[in-house]
Amino acid sequence: MKLRGVDYGCVKGKYVLLRVDFNVQIENGKILDAFRIEQSMPTINKLREAGARVVLCAHLGRPKGEHVPELSLRPVAEYMKIPFVDDCLKRDFLADMHDGDIILMENVRFYSGEEENDLEFAKKLATGFDLFVNDAFAVSHRAAASLVGVTEFLPSAAGELLVTEVENISRIMENPKRPLLAIVGGAKVSGKIGVLKTLCKLADTVIVGGALGTTFNFACGKNPGNSLYEPDMADTAREIMKIADDNGCKFLMPVDKGVGPKFEPSAQRTNKSVDEIADTDVIIDDGVKSAERNVDEIDKAATVVWNGTFGMAEWGDVWGQSSFAVARAIAKQTAAGKLVSVIGGGETVAALDAIGVRDDMTYVSTGGGAFLEFIEKGTLPAIEVLAV
Ligand code: 3PG
Repeated sequence: MKLRGVDYGCVKGKYVLLRVDFNVQIENGKILDAFRIEQSMPTINKLREAGARVVLCAHLGRPKGEHVPELSLRPVAEYMKIPFVDDCLKRDFLADMHDGDIILMENVRFYSGEEENDLEFAKKLATGFDLFVNDAFAVSHRAAASLVGVTEFLPSAAGELLVTEVENISRIMENPKRPLLAIVGGAKVSGKIGVLKTLCKLADTVIVGGALGTTFNFACGKNPGNSLYEPDMADTAREIMKIADDNGCKFLMPVDKGVGPKFEPSAQRTNKSVDEIADTDVIIDDGVKSAERNVDEIDKAATVVWNGTFGMAEWGDVWGQSSFAVARAIAKQTAAGKLVSVIGGGETVAALDAIGVRDDMTYVSTGGGAFLEFIEKGTLPAIEVLAV
């Protein structure tokens, strides 16, 4: 997919509305992970250096059209040390901007017109600008006013991050180095049906794990114990496995599990085969044998795409061990030049960070839902409008 890029030679003195995804975790006014902000810097810097007057538009959380003070983007402006405008429809500040200036506007989702992709709202948002640039890959699966509607009123282009994301994720879908291994974990099959179906047609091997994997085990007659899984997704799980089978894709699910008596970080871990799970067992991680098998598959692969952890990686080594084993194996093979690795999703990236291997990956996406939907469909609503 080819996108309309920014013509930096033509932006001097122009007012640029730059949509970014600054939907970052903030605690007591402090940014916990600035990855998304850092990834937007190449576009911001290129526009500034070219003399544009850059106005950043972003969302935070899901305020549903209400002004929610806790979801203000002011802490992000403070973190970036740039001026802040407390309403995304104010325009009086534009007259005071100079070439190379940058300003962040308040949460665009404080207006209901944003998520409704209301064209009147989009028109107001576009007012005063010469150019719209989308660099917000992580929210480009939402057909919102600041992503889609606004392109009806302004010349529009894709920023550096958007182009980079599309190029890197496309390498999984278009002519990947094979064998291509897809690893999908997380909580729910229901949120990943589309991407699983696509991956079963595309990949040589698909590994499922986590609570999502437990649903597949259940669909094959295994006892899920007293654990998180989706009983009503059993038919869908079987349908997905059939797609894999029809397409010659090896489909692997957990063969054992790390179980405890209760769902809590201090629970005593026992390893059990999926055939031995008792009604009272709570599955909290995939098991040791599953992790070893997964590492073997990673060692054989030439391309890996990974989304979703296998257990409670946020609880540390005991319940994160199968996720960390995968992360370490991918990091090792990638660093050795044997693997192209593309990773997406907040929890998955947090697992990489927990053991310090984020920088070893070939590409880490800023997207979660957008990452999955782009793999599933090969395009997204806010990207579609920028295609050439
Ligand atoms: C994200 O964090 O995945 C994006 O910013 C999209 O957020 P949303 O799921 O609230 O639309």
